[in-house]
Amino acid sequence: MNVLVIGNGGREHAVITALAKSPKVDKIYAMKGNAGIAELAELVNVDYCDVKAVGDWVDAKGDIHFTVVTPDDPLALGLVDELEARGHRAFGPCQRAAIIESSKAFSKALMKKYNIPTATYETFSSYEEASAFVETCPIPVVLKADGLALGKGVLICKTREEARLGVKEMMLNQKFGSAGNTIVIEEFLEGPEVSCLAFTDGKTIVPMITSCDHKRAKDNDEGLNTGGMGTFSPATFFGENSAKEVMEKIMVPTMSAMNAENRTFKGVLYFGLMKTNEGYKVIEYNARFGDPETQVILPMLKTDLLEIMEAIVDERLADVQIEWEDGACVCLVLASGGYPEAYEKGKEITIGTLDEGIQLYHAGTAKKEGKLVTSGGRVLGVVAKGATLNEAREKAYANAKKIHFDGMYYRKDIGIKYQEITKE
Ligand code: AMP
Ligand code: GLY
Repeated sequence: MNVLVIGNGGREHAVITALAKSPKVDKIYAMKGNAGIAELAELVNVDYCDVKAVGDWVDAKGDIHFTVVTPDDPLALGLVDELEARGHRAFGPCQRAAIIESSKAFSKALMKKYNIPTATYETFSSYEEASAFVETCPIPVVLKADGLALGKGVLICKTREEARLGVKEMMLNQKFGSAGNTIVIEEFLEGPEVSCLAFTDGKTIVPMITSCDHKRAKDNDEGLNTGGMGTFSPATFFGENSAKEVMEKIMVPTMSAMNAENRTFKGVLYFGLMKTNEGYKVIEYNARFGDPETQVILPMLKTDLLEIMEAIVDERLADVQIEWEDGACVCLVLASGGYPEAYEKGKEITIGTLDEGIQLYHAGTAKKEGKLVTSGGRVLGVVAKGATLNEAREKAYANAKKIHFDGMYYRKDIGIKYQEITKE
């Protein structure tokens, strides 16, 4: 089979690496890909947010048998619907289902209607009403732009003044563009966070191994929010009781709720959860694989990823036995100096000889005059597996030292947090 993968980050490099192992796959195309992906796939330079242009390319190509849509924007724009309407097979939720990520107002209302545990909240489309609300609500409080904002549309306000300014920035100054025309104002929750991703075809939901992201730019979760500076898997505190609670109170009810709303979700459903004193609560849903969670999940997957994806499209996921390796996996993101604010591109990357078993996923890389150079804020993901989390972490850090580009920085504490929390 010839497979087209939409996207160009570390997550897509991990997806393509897994797909390339499938005996069923003949050739992979990546739209648009990056320098690392180019080793495994032919790059296609089409703007994947232009769903019609993607459909035209697939039609004209004539021999694409399966398309995997990974990023949030094309899912929200209906790329899967467009391809299916043209008679092609595509993996990912349809537009009506992808709304679970693309509108926080939708996902919050869904959780309220179906009693899925989440922070209490109010939705506002009027600046005056939102401003009045933050004058009296409990502080800290969390402001969320309704729409997609590159994972950055959330403000945690520790003081009332911050909340006032936040509402103004989002609703009047359009800090997150039109994504902030409607905002959700929600209760501030506390507790460890875990990313629980699951495969679902709308009938069956199968959790993947858990992972933990590190969203802040600096050690000890300080600095600005980023797309993710590193991950580890599994979440050390997440035991059998946690798995049972999340399955019964969150995963199955979410799948059923989407069916009841005539928005059957087929694809990867990502549950961003917080373990609070009152049990697990949903912080966010994503309609896709997480980045950089995928970089520590897929290396542990023993089952053929294409087989799973095809089963989801055909609604026979229950027939597939999904297996995972034991042990742990760590991903360190090597970022450009300045990220997530302004940073320079085009810095030459040098990579020494990495230890066996280390996987280097490319995110913001490109080839320029034969040289590997930086082309984004998050540049590379160094991924190591180990029998224990400590072993995986030590291997990842030892190998990160062999990579260099001007301004390169990475967090030194990936895989350390939450170790003191008892497993349940
Ligand atoms: P998101 O962009 O939705 O992933 O949110 C970014 C981060 O903000 C999350 O990973 C949490 O750490 C934090 N956050 C979001 N909602 C809440 C909340 N209700 N209470 C506390 N922290 C939150
Ligand atoms: N790592 C968080 C996300 O993919 O949205």
